[in-house]
Amino acid sequence: MKRLFRRHDVSKLQSQANNDVRLRRVLGPVNLTALGVGAIIGTGIFVLTGTVAAQNSGPAVVLSFVFAGIASVFAALCYSEFAALVPVAGSAYTYAYATLGEIFAWIIGWDLILEYAVGAITVAIGWSGYVVSFFNSIGIHIPAELSAATGTLVRLPDGMQVHALFNLPAVVIVFVVTTLLVVGIKHSALFNNAIVIVKLAVVLAFIATAAHAVNPANWHPFIPANTGHFGHFGWSGVLAGSGVVFFAYIGFDAVSTAAQESRNPKRDMPIAIISSLVVCTVLYIVVSAIATGVLPYGELDVPDPIAKVADHAGLGLMVGGVSAMSLMIKLGAIAGLSSVILVMLLGQSRVFYAMARDGLLPPFVSRVHPRFKTPWITSIITGVAVCFFAAVLSIREAGSLCSIGTLLAFVIVCASVLVLRVREPHHVRTFRTPAIWFVAPAGVVSSLLLMAGLPWETWARLIIWFLIGMVVYFGYSHRHSKLHAGCLAQGEARDESADA
Ligand code: ALA
Repeated sequence: MKRLFRRHDVSKLQSQANNDVRLRRVLGPVNLTALGVGAIIGTGIFVLTGTVAAQNSGPAVVLSFVFAGIASVFAALCYSEFAALVPVAGSAYTYAYATLGEIFAWIIGWDLILEYAVGAITVAIGWSGYVVSFFNSIGIHIPAELSAATGTLVRLPDGMQVHALFNLPAVVIVFVVTTLLVVGIKHSALFNNAIVIVKLAVVLAFIATAAHAVNPANWHPFIPANTGHFGHFGWSGVLAGSGVVFFAYIGFDAVSTAAQESRNPKRDMPIAIISSLVVCTVLYIVVSAIATGVLPYGELDVPDPIAKVADHAGLGLMVGGVSAMSLMIKLGAIAGLSSVILVMLLGQSRVFYAMARDGLLPPFVSRVHPRFKTPWITSIITGVAVCFFAAVLSIREAGSLCSIGTLLAFVIVCASVLVLRVREPHHVRTFRTPAIWFVAPAGVVSSLLLMAGLPWETWARLIIWFLIGMVVYFGYSHRHSKLHAGCLAQGEARDESADA
């Protein structure tokens, strides 16, 4: 029993992070904040705003964004303390290993698959929606039955309704990104910064130009009456909507995975995590208010709602009968979502890598390609699985699963930060979560509340995933863990964790 709760030592992790010179410390606060914004702005705002407004919250999707933003801020404050205290790769997985013990580290590592791999699936589906829409606007039509989740009813150009086969564009983008990751894309801050500038420019241009087309009548009723079903409008709809749009905030924690590439992580990690989240929260609230103000919420349930709003607002120049602004939004979304998929798949391989180095996953998972210097086997296996599910799932199914998995990670991180404060108060903390006795429990409770708003099917999937994880843990990981397998001295196990 004791073995389940064996822990890595925080001081040792710290000194090893300081001594590890293999990763170059080049990122300052601006680049790190850009990394956060690059990972955050994606499918959530470009796609889910529309489906949540139409199916759950109505114009009160704005409130859904506010509630999800508050829960994220609590979690971000807790992540910040950890990222400054233990600035090593592996993020939440490593934090849990250092505080709550191995079983919790396993649960969070297993759970992060839902955040990163299922997140990549969700964003790939969102990317597909914008690609189809972009090609449509320039007169190229991708067949509807090849661009939606398996079994979804889609309408053909002749008006006939058929069941979709699978989502081909989503498969294509995952294939391309996986190939890039295998051959070792130079994941430079410069490339990310360029994409972030494009994304921010598109969002700001949308706000600046669509605001004039808002018709305040569309905001009434602000919270449409509940239809009699939990989660379909009314306050339960706002709550359910918060659980789904929470997806839009996922990504700020990706900043913490770059801790070992940061010049001054003790100062810059908290700055980057919190400022990227605050920037995005403000943008989301404004964009969702404008979208529901320009079009009645019932009309927003399309794969490219923001572009539809831009079209309706009659923004700017027309190019061949299509609004130039709408084309720009589609292109910005296509570029912007690609970088989110990249960061998510990259994050996934780093977590698998860290787990394999600790012995919790088989050694081949952390095997690095001799020429490309990338964890190629794990990247390919992840890519194939992500391709498959991106082809057959709907965006809401995947997005809800990703949200519930990430929320569970937040619950564990918020609890861990408090546990470590109590148990090991002596560590020098350059960033201390303010009002920890309020913020950490509030982070736990608000994350649990958002989880409560998600559909029971999502809960069922989470529980099944958890049970599979337990089978793998007790069937393999528990016995192979380097921390207590006796095949390595404890110190060596810690070395490897810090390296990963
Ligand atoms: N927050 C990211 C998105 O909305 C995952 O796409």
